[in-house]
Order: sequence, then C-alpha cells, then structure tokens
Amino acid sequence: MGTGTVVSGRVRKDLSRTNPNGNIPPESRSNSRKKKIQRRSKRTLISPVQKLVDTCKKVFANAKSGTVPSQDNIQMLRAVLDEIKPEDVGVSPKMPYFRSKVTGRSPLVTYLHIYASHSFSIGIFCLPSSGVIPLHNHPEMTVFSKLLFGTMHIKSYDWVADSPQPSLDTRLAKVKVDLDFTAPCDTSILYPADGGNMHCFTAKTACAVLDVLGPPYSDPAGRHCTYYFDLPFSSFSVDGVAVAEEEKEGYEWLKEREEEPEDLTVTAMMYSGPTIKE
Ligand SMILES: [Fe+2]
Repeated sequence: MGTGTVVSGRVRKDLSRTNPNGNIPPESRSNSRKKKIQRRSKRTLISPVQKLVDTCKKVFANAKSGTVPSQDNIQMLRAVLDEIKPEDVGVSPKMPYFRSKVTGRSPLVTYLHIYASHSFSIGIFCLPSSGVIPLHNHPEMTVFSKLLFGTMHIKSYDWVADSPQPSLDTRLAKVKVDLDFTAPCDTSILYPADGGNMHCFTAKTACAVLDVLGPPYSDPAGRHCTYYFDLPFSSFSVDGVAVAEEEKEGYEWLKEREEEPEDLTVTAMMYSGPTIKE
C-alpha cells in the first residue's frame, strides 16, 4: 500500500508538469535539454593533466634535437602549465616523497613519471627540504618547469659562444638566474642556446617541480645528460678571455663531471594522478 501511494504521488507530480493537452510545456523541455547538456559536458570534461599531454602532442609534434616550438605554441603550453595545481597531478606536500630521511647524505629525490614519447616527456621531481638536483644540461631541448609548491633556489647558466677553453671538458658560462622561487610563480622556460640551459635546483623547503622536456633525453640521439662542477671565473686565466672586474661574478667555468654525482639518488616512480588517455 505504501508503495502504491508513492507511485501515485509520483504520477501526480509528473502530470502537474503537463499542459491541458498532455504535452510538456516549453520551459520543462528547455530544462531537460539543459540537464542533458550538463550531463554531456561532465562526460567530456578534460582533466588538466590530459590537457597538458594533448597540448604537448601539438607543441612538440615531430620535435627533433634543437627544434624550438613557435612563440604561439610556447605561449599555449605556458598557459596550460600556469593553470596546473598540485592536486591536478596527484601530488601534495604530505606525501612521503617530501619527507627527509636521515641517511647521512643528500635527501633522496623522487621522479614521478607522467608521460613520455619520442618527442617529449613529462614528470614531476619531488624534493624534500635541502634536496638537490646537481648542475646538469638539456642539450638541444626546450624545457618548461613549473614549481607546483614550495620554495626552490635555481641557479642557471648559458654557454658563452666561441669562448676559448682552458681544457676540452671546461667551458665558460654566463650566470642567467641565481634566485629563490616560491610557488605560485611563473613557469620558467629554457631553450637550447639560452634561458639557462644548464641548471641546478636546491630545495629551500619541500617542493615539487613539473618538468616538460621537448625532445626528451636520448643517448642514441645524442641528447645525453651531463653533470658539471661550477668553478669561479678566477680559477683559470685563458688567453682571449677577458671580463670586466665588476662582471666577473656573472661568469663561471663549468667542468664536466666524469660520472654522475655520487650524492644524487633519484628514484623513479609512476605518478598516481588522473589517468591519461592516448
Ligand atoms: Fe633540468
């Protein structure tokens, strides 16, 4: 009996929305249309990380060594990255990757792999406070770095073109950036020959950096990651290299390290944010 009451109540309610001819009034039709559109837009809503991957596919289509995307494409990708928040890529300062473990060495760095193809790669570096990614290069690449949270010191350099060298493994570089960055801040971009192609990250607090590389590192393609020691300008006296006294602090010698820094341990993990569709 109770069920019958409910049914009749529902029928009465439905009938109240019809006009005397039994047709649904125009306003009800438009309401149901709106609901359909809302349901459809919910189904087609693209996650920020999916938008990032889709944008990278356009920006780095057929990217090769030394290819720099057009200004329009750079601005398009920068705009997408500027909108990304930690929760969009499934990271939070509460995750264990951001806790320093007492190991007697530099805190462990975690790389969360998001996506990689032959033309670009996307991932997140997670650094506990005091974590360091030593000075390294990005040969023939364009790199977008978005600090998701925390404070990080970035020191970056560009090569001084055609400068005499004290030895084959040591070159003169100009300091491009030497600053602390605190999120939220602008996405930084480096290019094959400028913008600070060699850089070092030092975490002032626990922090996360979303990195987009186009094209990615590839030993077979000659895009090998090299690490460097930075030495003051006064370390060498080289014929043909002259810098005004007051500008000497802005120049350093970068010497290739023969091996990967022994204090750098990067653990690679799969990221656990929203699923990405091809
Ligand atoms: Fe880097």
